[in-house]
Formats: sequence, C-alpha cells, structure tokens
Amino acid sequence: MWTYGGTYPGLTIWRPTGQTTNVTFTNNLDPAAGAMTVHNHGNHSSPENDGRPNEFLIGTGESRTYTYTGLEDGVNERGTMHFYHDHLMDVTGRNVWMGLAGLYIIDDPADPATLPSGAFDLPLAIADRQFDANNQTPYVFDPDGVTGDKILINGVYQPYFDVGDRKYRLRILNASNARIYNLTLSTGDSFIQIGTESGLLPAPVTRTEMRMGPAERLDVVVDFAGRLAQDVYLTDTLTGMQLLQFRVTQHLVDDSTIPPTLRSLPDIGEPTVTRTWDFDKTAGHWTINGLRFDPNRVDARPVLGTTEKWIFTNPTGRPHTVHIHDVAQQCLSRNGGPCYPYETMKETWYLDPSETLEVKLKFTDHIGMYMLHCHMIEHEDDGMMTQFEVIAPRAAPTPRPRPTPLPRPTP
Ligand code: C2O
Ligand code: CU
Repeated sequence: MWTYGGTYPGLTIWRPTGQTTNVTFTNNLDPAAGAMTVHNHGNHSSPENDGRPNEFLIGTGESRTYTYTGLEDGVNERGTMHFYHDHLMDVTGRNVWMGLAGLYIIDDPADPATLPSGAFDLPLAIADRQFDANNQTPYVFDPDGVTGDKILINGVYQPYFDVGDRKYRLRILNASNARIYNLTLSTGDSFIQIGTESGLLPAPVTRTEMRMGPAERLDVVVDFAGRLAQDVYLTDTLTGMQLLQFRVTQHLVDDSTIPPTLRSLPDIGEPTVTRTWDFDKTAGHWTINGLRFDPNRVDARPVLGTTEKWIFTNPTGRPHTVHIHDVAQQCLSRNGGPCYPYETMKETWYLDPSETLEVKLKFTDHIGMYMLHCHMIEHEDDGMMTQFEVIAPRAAPTPRPRPTPLPRPTP
C-alpha cells in the first residue's frame, strides 16, 4: 500500500485542542504516483494547510509541513475524530484506496471526563478493498464508486477485540471510497451516539442501527454489561457481514457514565445569504449545479465573519455525501422537516435521492479557497466538486467610479 508512516490506516495523531500541531509529510512514493496533498478532513485549517487539490503540492522527494492551530472562531476546536487523507485533483480516489488515510483525534478537556477513555476509547476506521490473487489492491476507476468485497477494520479483515463487560467508546469512521454501511450490534443492543464529525451532540441519542456514508463519523458508546463470556459483533446489515468481533472475556468495574447533556452548539448567528447546491448528473458526469470541477472557477464568495444558509438537493438516483471544508455546519432542516437528532452539527452529510438538506455555516478566521464536494470519492474525481473563496469584508464589492469611455475615432 501507499502509507503515511508505514501503516494503514496511517499513524494516528492524537492531540490536545488549542495547541499548534506541525505535521511534516515527505513524498517518498514512486515518481509514477505523482505529487501529493494532505487534507485534514474536518479540521479548521487555513487554505495553505488544507490540502488543496491543485496548489501547495508535495512533489516526489519533497516535504511539506502543515500547521494546525487547534483553534476555531477564537476558541479551542471541539474534541472529535478527524482524518487526514490525500486530496489530489482527479486521483483522490486512487490515492486514498492505495492507503493514504489516517486518523487525527482532538482531545478536549471541555468534554465530560466521565465518558469511557483510555483503553476504553477505540478509534475504528472501516474501509472496503478488493484483493487480487496476489493479495494486492489494484485500483480501477469507476465513476459510480469503487468498492471491494472485503471490509477491513483498521486495516484488518474480520478482526476480534477482547473487551470487558463495561462501556466502551467507539469512534467510527467510514474510510471507504464509496461504500455505505448500516451498522448494528448482533445482540440487538443499542448504540448511544454521543457525537458526530464535529464533536459531541447536545444530548446522547439511542440508535439500534446507524447508516453511514463515506467520510462520516459516529462517536458512540456501547455497553457490554451482562455479556460476559459472549461474543458481540459489529454488523453491516447492507452486506450481512460481521465486521468486528468483540469477545467479552473479562469482568471489569465500570466507572464511566454518559451525562444526559453533552455540549451545546456554538451560536453562529442567523444566515444573511442563501445559496443552493444541486448534487446532480449532467451529460453523463457527476456535477454540482450542472458543472464539473474546474480549478479556475469559483462558485461562491462568502464574506469572512458572516453566516450563510446552504441548501443541498439530490436530483439523482444515487445517494451522495456532501462535504464542506473550512468550518462545521449546523442543520436547519431535512426535507422541509426537522433534522435527525444525531445530525445537529457536522461537515459530511448523507443525502439520499430526492432529499433536500438545509444547513447554516459561519466563515471564521481564514480567507481563501475551500472545497465543497461529494465524498463518494469517485464522484468527486469525476467532477462533483467545486470551490468557494472566503473573502475579507473590505474586499466586498465597493462601487468604483466608471472610467469615461474614450471617444471613438471616426473611421
Ligand atoms: Cu475528506 Cu475534501 O475531503
Ligand atoms: Cu456523490
């Protein structure tokens, strides 16, 4: 595989919020792999640290240091699990499939300390791969999405994990290029969802099944109490596969608790501008508002410090996962009604055919170019991506005196 630091997923970076983190990446891949660019997905990064698809690239043999401040809108970034992955224009799907993805976890002392932690806090990256006769994972582009018949947890096929009969926190990432999962526990027990991509929910939500599109994260607590000497499987109902076996082998005293309230949402104000983004198919390609990605086109110029309402529609017959770089978004409505209780604040949104989603977002801290795209990565590479530029308030259109036209010479 192509790896970050020799493992798949890449080395896990686990950092306290509010502290600057510098990560240096060196491109030692075969020159045929080309340049690289690293996006810290979900992080609030300045454009030159955001892994842009066509700028600030890391050429063969070169290094680049990315700086993550751990700050957002003047306060510490919320604790959560992000992931970093390659984002090179046209070939992000290939590069991620080849292995260029890793976890980036932010610890936040403002989150309740009673949640399961330490050995009871497990990051789980789920990704499918197709293996050939030599156990290699060749990549063959398919604009509808590349999937495989083996589903890996943290790079391992059908692993097991020994647990005690107590609560565990599972931070789950769908690290697949295009596969959707519907997760359940084989016992029929519930997950208590405590967070999303963008940190803890206002209050925990009990769920017996959890659908999950590419790049979404689910922060959940599972309780193995009363299951001593049993096996519990994390199962995907869409394939019917058992993804991970928990062997409840030990009796342990559980000192963890899930508080009835977790974190309130930040106040990002009311939107002053509305934009609509149609995730569509046009002339045989995946598009946004009818257009394929063009690095020379900017489709929105929101003003720094303002809040906007963005409306997403899906007139196609396939689901998409809408991902917006730069800042987290808060859900306003889904299909004209209330949002799911577990999607209050996110940055990757599941959008089924015919659905409409309304979110609001406030542009803070950084000006410059950011991406908006489908995270079914082959849709993105096929063209379902665009960019917006956050501009400084003073750069907003100012009336300029019109030059007086010169008199035309008479022929
Ligand atoms: Cu994880 Cu622009 O992507
Ligand atoms: Cu899509």
